Amino acid sequence: RPGAAAAIGHSALDVVMEGLRRLEYRGYDSAGVAVLTGTGMESRKKSGKLANLVAELEADPLPEATTGIGHTRWATHGGPTDGNAHPHLADGGRLAVIHNGIIENFAELKEELLAAGVGFKSETDTEVAAALLGRIYASTGGQDLARSMQLACQRLEGAFTLLAIHADSPDTVVAARRNSPLVVGLGEGENFLGSDVSGFIDFTRRAVELGQDQIVTITPDSVEITDFHGLPAEGTEFEVNWDAAAAEKGGYDSFMEKEINDQPQAVADTLLGRFDADGRLTLDELRVSPEALKSINKIMVLACGTSAYAGQVAKYAIEHWCRIPVEVELSHEFRYRDPIVDSNTLIVAISQSGETMDTLMAVRYAKEQGAKILAICNTNGSTIPREADAVLYTHAGPEIAVASTKAFLAQITATYLLGLYLAQVRGNKFQGEIKDILADLAKVPAKIQQVLDGAGAIKELGQLMAGTSSVLFLGRHVGFPVAMEGALKLKELAYIHAEGFAAGELKHGPIALIEEGQPVFVVVPSPRGRDSLHAKVVSNIQEIRARGAKTIVIAEEGDDAVKAYAEYVFYVPETPTLLAPLLTTVPLQIFACALATAKGFDVDQPRNLAKSVTVE
Ligand code: G6P
Repeated sequence: RPGAAAAIGHSALDVVMEGLRRLEYRGYDSAGVAVLTGTGMESRKKSGKLANLVAELEADPLPEATTGIGHTRWATHGGPTDGNAHPHLADGGRLAVIHNGIIENFAELKEELLAAGVGFKSETDTEVAAALLGRIYASTGGQDLARSMQLACQRLEGAFTLLAIHADSPDTVVAARRNSPLVVGLGEGENFLGSDVSGFIDFTRRAVELGQDQIVTITPDSVEITDFHGLPAEGTEFEVNWDAAAAEKGGYDSFMEKEINDQPQAVADTLLGRFDADGRLTLDELRVSPEALKSINKIMVLACGTSAYAGQVAKYAIEHWCRIPVEVELSHEFRYRDPIVDSNTLIVAISQSGETMDTLMAVRYAKEQGAKILAICNTNGSTIPREADAVLYTHAGPEIAVASTKAFLAQITATYLLGLYLAQVRGNKFQGEIKDILADLAKVPAKIQQVLDGAGAIKELGQLMAGTSSVLFLGRHVGFPVAMEGALKLKELAYIHAEGFAAGELKHGPIALIEEGQPVFVVVPSPRGRDSLHAKVVSNIQEIRARGAKTIVIAEEGDDAVKAYAEYVFYVPETPTLLAPLLTTVPLQIFACALATAKGFDVDQPRNLAKSVTVE
């Protein structure tokens, strides 16, 4: 559960509202702020998007303050109502608390607090944490908010980031974290906290990662970190390499459109500096010795959502290049099925945010079993790379739209680099072959640009099909995960029934769905590829056309043969089959975005979703 921003400095409200604007993508069903003024605590909160809170603040302004906290919510306990929005107040309205995560023992704590005469106004677990903190603070004489936070955290189970301010200490914000994300921003005479660095990116580039089970107390000129027992602890300082402008729409109508158009850069930046002119990859940042990589006998990719489809593409490439078995599994399924992993297993955890709780828990479990963990991640200072043995960063820049686009292509690119690096250190391929593949990869950004430049027709088709209620996607080999991703984009953005299938599986069931006029996208492999993959997919197209399907084909330039079988054909430039997902995905993203926009939906913040799901 999403964005928290806090600040101590000049106009806390401005800083917090700017932070919430930048963090809104993490959750957006309600929002609230609290500030400490000369006279005490003041708070405003409102269900719905941040704009509702902005309107509320215009109608009922808050006084100037230099200390404040704010939150945008993705509901878990209790619906998205004004009352359930954060902050939650306690200690007679003098204490305000915001929270991300889930307090698992909230029912038991609530009973205890009810029995002690505490009243509750909301259905949230957060209010229970606020009440507990308030009671501890009052019962210890109201002396020390940080100490009270330590005692409260010792009683809480589950995942949480908590931020608290109290009217007794108008210059202080106390925060705690277990499993949920929290970073500190270091300013001059002011300090910040955020669920991620975008919360304070406009004010400072200096950030501090906090460790697990830590408490941080910030004032305008100090940052003090302890563990849950008050023992001094240290965070790790890092420089934020994202530019605030990169997290703006830059002239596009939506972040989604901007991010789709950022993709040539995202892929180029992810490749940058990672291999030389002779095709030698240097991934020193991996922090795993070549010896350790030689002893691996299995790779397991763990991820969720779009990141899991990047893993599925990786399987085809890495197995082919390295001859190591690669399994791909959804993190939440892996964790609870007694999986077989040991010290010769390399876990590749793919996560744009680095905070997805399902993936974090799977990583921790695999680590306990002795596996080596390599994270592919887009976010500096996030939890999964910090807990991994090694990390390969994707350099896609901030991805703000909830549905992933440029991070997906950057993740696929990173898995290619990993696969080729493994092939290099394990001696699976001749250096010359690796060099050729890297040369093809280096040409991909310009080819993505070509697809973007010719996007007009696919956009029009998206607009034309705004009334469609169901779309199917077919692909084979690496085209299969691309088909799944195309379907996911349409579900996420346009709320349309969409399914991706392996084209070969069609005849084993899904073909029953085909009726007159059913739109079906088919991702056709290159006719220059190996075996008879192309011919097989063309046969699959004929099978569905014979049953009335309206086929929309994504094919390689020069593949004239498919024209006869398609209502519409969209061509992408030539590239080796294994690299094709970096091109064939793009028209599907553009289609979903155009269709959803034509339906009038907010493509950046689709209903019910959140960018970074920090609950299991
Ligand atoms: C959420 C988002 C998806 C994303 C998935 C995995 O469900 O809505 O867009 O693909 O999480 O996120 P991650 O940050 O781990 O890549």
